[in-house]
Amino acid sequence: MNVQTRPGDTGLDFATQSGFGNEFATEALPGALPVGRNSPQKVPYGLYAEQLSGTAFTVPRQEARRSWLYRIRPSAGHGRFRPLDAGMLCGKLAPPNPNRLRWNPLPMPEAPVDFVAGLVTIGATAPAEAISGVTIHVYRATASMQRVFMDADGELLIVPQQGRLLLATECGRLLVAPGEIAVIPCGMKFRVELPDGTARGYIAENHGAPLRLPDLGPIGANGLANPRDFLAPVAWYEERDEPTELVQKFQGTLWFTILDHSPLDVVAWHGNNVPYKYDTARFNAMGTVSFDHPDPSIFTVLTSPTTAPGLANMDFVIFPPRWMVAEDTFRPPWFHRNVMNECMGLVQGVYDGKADGFLPGGISLHPRMSAHGPDAPTTARAIAAELAPHKIEGTLAFMFETSQVIRPTQYAMECPELQASYDACWDGLPKSFTGAG
Ligand SMILES: [Fe+2]
Repeated sequence: MNVQTRPGDTGLDFATQSGFGNEFATEALPGALPVGRNSPQKVPYGLYAEQLSGTAFTVPRQEARRSWLYRIRPSAGHGRFRPLDAGMLCGKLAPPNPNRLRWNPLPMPEAPVDFVAGLVTIGATAPAEAISGVTIHVYRATASMQRVFMDADGELLIVPQQGRLLLATECGRLLVAPGEIAVIPCGMKFRVELPDGTARGYIAENHGAPLRLPDLGPIGANGLANPRDFLAPVAWYEERDEPTELVQKFQGTLWFTILDHSPLDVVAWHGNNVPYKYDTARFNAMGTVSFDHPDPSIFTVLTSPTTAPGLANMDFVIFPPRWMVAEDTFRPPWFHRNVMNECMGLVQGVYDGKADGFLPGGISLHPRMSAHGPDAPTTARAIAAELAPHKIEGTLAFMFETSQVIRPTQYAMECPELQASYDACWDGLPKSFTGAG
């Protein structure tokens, strides 16, 4: 255990505790963290002790997530939550759709819109009351939040595509830039500020088991995302006794209440149910050094497992810059039909499976058993290519892969960004069969 002490009014080191799943301990005032017990009769500085559980109390020890928060006021001190218009968040789902779907980037709002108001739900695997599956959102924000948000429906995997996010959470602050990702635990309160004025990106709201690192099997003890590169914040708090709106997402609906103080008032904490961030540039990509290429699971950063071994509720997979060296190999992602369901996004650059039409900020859905792969121009180029080693650079695509079908929302099926002609990218794959004779 590593105790970090930071004055409460500084924030230059937003995230300095590293290591995935560790038991962290941190205090913004010296001596604020109780020693030897979680809930002493008198907490230092007159703070209140509060546990935030991320898993059931009785799950196996290696799966348990919980943190103890030492705060100025307990979270219980709030009035009634009242319904709030959810806008385009968690809209009605369209009927199941077997088609391959792709969207252009959603435009930035012209009016000032904060992170919560700018959320648009693209699809979901299940009705909002389910406790497994995943919901896919896009966020577009043009104003920093003046309020605080918590999601009671799942943990949030945030993938910035444009503009940095300053995530002020109960556990401290994380500054997250495109190329990095952040995860906010279920129920943790946070505020999103925009250092660059605007921001856009993707969110996988994970309703299943908390995301964790995948097992490495024969890869060994190192590789892919290494535990020490996950950064958790040091304690930070604000003592702000003024009306503060707290919004929560609950079963796919939004609710709000007005507190008489900021709930970001945790002076010290310890535990492993924490927000964290990760720089995908630190991903140790693995690939073939002979021929073919491995299944994309080789690029898994984080996984939410189910009880079936190897079957993920969701995987977060990236396609980062990397060398391509395979001999006698069709190098783009091969044609395939997958029992899993794929939602892809593009942070920057060009995805090596598509010549055009898949834009940074865009999104695609490939439901189970839908046939897909490189588009026609990419295929022709790959078959004709001289197979010298080359590096794919300046790009970051990713995939939220789920074992359940993602149903698009009605909004996503009707918005002008839905590409009517996505299927046409596979037109022009010529018949090149030379015949039996
Ligand atoms: Fe695929």
